[in-house]
Amino acid sequence: MAWTEDGLYGSEAQRKLQARSLAAADTVAETPGAVFAARLAGTDDPDRLGWHRISAILRDEGAMTFRMIALKDCSEIERRLADIGCTITWWDVFDGSRDDIRAACNDILRLPRDDLALAGRSASADGDFLGSVQAFMAKSGVAPFPAQVLSGSAGPSTLAVLLDPEDCSVAATAFSYFPYNRFSAHRASAWAGLVAVREDLRNRGVGVWANALALKGAVDDLGAHTVQEFARTSNVPSCRMIERCGLRLRPDVRSGIAQPDGAQSFTR
Ligand SMILES: CC(C)(COP(=O)(O)OP(=O)(O)OC[C@H]1O[C@@H](n2cnc3c(N)ncnc32)[C@H](O)[C@@H]1OP(=O)(O)O)[C@@H](O)C(=O)NCCC(=O)NCCS
Repeated sequence: MAWTEDGLYGSEAQRKLQARSLAAADTVAETPGAVFAARLAGTDDPDRLGWHRISAILRDEGAMTFRMIALKDCSEIERRLADIGCTITWWDVFDGSRDDIRAACNDILRLPRDDLALAGRSASADGDFLGSVQAFMAKSGVAPFPAQVLSGSAGPSTLAVLLDPEDCSVAATAFSYFPYNRFSAHRASAWAGLVAVREDLRNRGVGVWANALALKGAVDDLGAHTVQEFARTSNVPSCRMIERCGLRLRPDVRSGIAQPDGAQSFTR
């Protein structure tokens, strides 16, 4: 399969994190508490992974995601991160069962969109196309994933790309895959995200449509039992889009990204 250069995309720091994440994928799959987050290292059980290891990752790589952390444990994690000079930005967590997702997304997708074209599955094997998808995500403020993950080469995934029929340029994206390993309580959960809509097309239902395609792919094609999505509370369009697709806010858990104090925000 031909990739645009090495399949990585973004700033030097982002590319380095993606390269390390890809290189560590096999180890992550066999490490309790580790998460394959594709664009950086991750954990869904910090105590199981070990704080020694977490400190080393944050020191060497400069970013790490914490997933599905019980609300009652968040302040202790903040304290431990502060001890090593790091801060965490939390996102709200939404999830939904496959039945709820199917019901909501079938409803959304029943109405066809004649204004946009859906890229065929074969496009996911085209390195240049994946490069344009990554560029589109980055321009929308969403830190992109390596092409190897977007294409499904690194594990089962579903990529939804809507095109402008005028010139076949990317108009919207959404993606889903399995980040958790066999030791995780969330192993049957897919994660969906990387949702972005071209600025002049926003607030016309395109985000909901693209997200519904990725969610349907997760439950129907990948066999996910549940799907999770994360968004900042302040990102109102994103939170509403996620809820429209059958997911519900989980008030008991949070996910986030830890970085050294003062670092530039990693993604939207
Ligand atoms: C988030 C994003 C993908 C949403 O796409 P969109 O096409 O604009 O959203 P939709 O038109 O499908 O609308 C989704 C919901 O948000 C609401 N919404 C859209 N724009 C809004 C705005 N500016 N303010 C408040 N609500 C808004 C819509 O009314 C709809 O809610 P409803 O169904 O309850 O009426 C788009 O804003 C985007 O690309 N943002 C930048 C990238 C980003 O933040 N991605 C998400 C990362 S977590």
